[in-house]
Amino acid sequence: MDDKRERLKSFFYKVKDCRQCDLHSGRTRFVFGSGSATAELMFVGEAPGRNEDIQGLPFVGRAGKILDDLLGSIGMNRKEVFIANVLKCRPPANRDPKLEEIDTCKEYLFKQINIIDPKIICTLGKYSTQLILDTSHGITGLRGKVYCKDGRTILPINHPAAILYNPTRMEILQNDFLRIKNIMDSGYRTGPHPAERNEEGDHEADNENDDSEQLGLF
Ligand code: URA
Repeated sequence: MDDKRERLKSFFYKVKDCRQCDLHSGRTRFVFGSGSATAELMFVGEAPGRNEDIQGLPFVGRAGKILDDLLGSIGMNRKEVFIANVLKCRPPANRDPKLEEIDTCKEYLFKQINIIDPKIICTLGKYSTQLILDTSHGITGLRGKVYCKDGRTILPINHPAAILYNPTRMEILQNDFLRIKNIMDSGYRTGPHPAERNEEGDHEADNENDDSEQLGLF
């Protein structure tokens, strides 16, 4: 347990001064991620925004408040989970991550996942979902369905910042958090990644409206 903490800490010291892409020149702080090194549940967002860049912590702005509230709604808090992003440095003016930036930075996230070894990864929005599931499919089709990859449960959901622009999506997010809780309570039943079940390698998703049947697949 302490071993994971030590490994994560030493990984942080190894990479925190990264200069592998141009984003380093505009950053205030490298945003490694925060939370428990032994978390069973990990969240992966897109990239630090302004507040995150200043504080060096993920999800501390308005989207972070939503994430905290959603965690609270299932009786959890951010100390019990690990929160990271696809990119560790803020893109200028919060623009979308570029493919080459993701390509350069992704090994940091993969190493964090490798050390923490979470049972469930909840991807927040398009960029983390596409990276973790290794797909080019859009978030709309993938969201709310349960995948299994490398023995982990992957649950893509909407990015909390989407609520800031479209509050009607809050109920969807709340239900997706209940789904996280159900998966954790059910002991993380797992099965093959959809691509492994489908000869075409398609990420064809399961029926999102039927949790029990969906989990029964595993
Ligand atoms: N949005 C993200 O994707 N990550 C953060 O850390 C903050 C906002």
